[in-house]
Amino acid sequence: MSVKYVAEPFRIKMVEPIKMTTPEERLEKIKEADYNLFSLASEDVYIDLLTDSGTGAMSQEQWSAMFIGDEAYAGGRSYRKLLKAGEDVFGYEYIQPVHQGRAAEKILMPLLLEEGKFAISNMHFDTTRAHVILAGGRAIDNIVPEGKKPEVRSKFKGNMDVAKLEALIAEKGVENIGMIIQTVTNNSAGGQPVSMQNMRDLYAVGQKHGIVVCIDAARHAENAFFIKRDEAEFKDWAIKDIVKEMFSYGDVITMSCKKDFNVNMGGILAVKDAVANDALIQSIKASCINYEGFYTYGGLSGRDLEAMAVGIYQYMDEDYLAYRIGQMEYLAGRLDEAGIAYQAPVGGHGVYVDAKALFPHIPYTEFPGQVLAVELYKEAGIRTCDIGSYMIGNDPDTNEQIESEFEFTRLAIPRQVYTQAHFDVMADALIAIKERAHTIKRGYKINWEPPILRHFQSKLEPIE
Ligand code: F0G
Repeated sequence: MSVKYVAEPFRIKMVEPIKMTTPEERLEKIKEADYNLFSLASEDVYIDLLTDSGTGAMSQEQWSAMFIGDEAYAGGRSYRKLLKAGEDVFGYEYIQPVHQGRAAEKILMPLLLEEGKFAISNMHFDTTRAHVILAGGRAIDNIVPEGKKPEVRSKFKGNMDVAKLEALIAEKGVENIGMIIQTVTNNSAGGQPVSMQNMRDLYAVGQKHGIVVCIDAARHAENAFFIKRDEAEFKDWAIKDIVKEMFSYGDVITMSCKKDFNVNMGGILAVKDAVANDALIQSIKASCINYEGFYTYGGLSGRDLEAMAVGIYQYMDEDYLAYRIGQMEYLAGRLDEAGIAYQAPVGGHGVYVDAKALFPHIPYTEFPGQVLAVELYKEAGIRTCDIGSYMIGNDPDTNEQIESEFEFTRLAIPRQVYTQAHFDVMADALIAIKERAHTIKRGYKINWEPPILRHFQSKLEPIE
């Protein structure tokens, strides 16, 4: 029996029409886009699952707060509202607003990393990896072994391998480790959650060696939901208290607020102890002024700060989180019935279909995750992305294609946007592709690529 869809804890007040296209039109459009889904016009997409970032439908409380945004260049009231909310929810004394998550990375990484230094993460998101490299450092992914096995259904597959973290510190030399990054949830591994115990253990290692622990917090509320559901110690805790406890196991936060604050734009860079970290905060402010704008608006409008200061509270609501995670479970349940493999159990913000399992005959050098992404567009006008070798790119030292641990196609689910019927369109499309998967013999080659973050812009061609 399939998983029951959890009914929406909201009703819809405004709608955005979307266009249905014919299969012939889609073949033409994807060819014109050089088989890169980022190059499609969004009107040519029926269901847009490219990302859950900044694509959500905000609440009436967020929209109405935007009208009272203070657009002062310096010292704005909306900034102070966000500072207060950030201290209340995260327990961090300094909150630097920035325009989105990667802006926080751009400011922080050069302050902690340089040539010869390493960042060790449970898994770096693509922009995080890029900013580690741009700062001169090198990124090491260190996830628990079960996180690399889509078919192994265990809890907290996003965890850092803490024993291996100790070994890596010993191997590279403690003086060469610039930072430890705990990504919650672990996006690149399928939105898999991290346990509180893992956060505790990791922080103890950071404290012992005097290494800064950064929490990449894009999806902290979804992570807290999994902790409450699956970690016995927290079953009676409020999500807000779990969130506070999670952030006690870090020194700094980089966060794309476009995910779990459900805003269309915004990010933060937060520092826990303002007195002990005064020098770091001064450097952050200086860098923010250079790159983002004065430190009390950080590249955002006052109205954006207002929407963030509401979203920080609103999306810790348990009924909302049960509905949100329920959507992933509904789609995963339909895939289970059809025997389609994905990173299981399903994570927080999307379903990561195991394209390697669907196309075992297509090698990583021909990008199975991208093959499935293109097929989903051709089949039903659904836009997704590769989270695999195509995204991970080339080794910065050898320029060789890196073989990713996974070849996923990610169906990332925007917040409060699609209905159960849309989820059935997704499942039906995947089932139809599975039936003809053996007829798709080859993948893609890249005709042009930029040196970093290539998946956004590359031009591809099917190998005949
Ligand atoms: N860290 C994580 C874990 C992310 O998922 C993202 C963005 C970022 C940092 C960068 O934040 O986009 O606001 O600059 N993830 C989006 C995604 C883009 O589609 O997964 P940003």
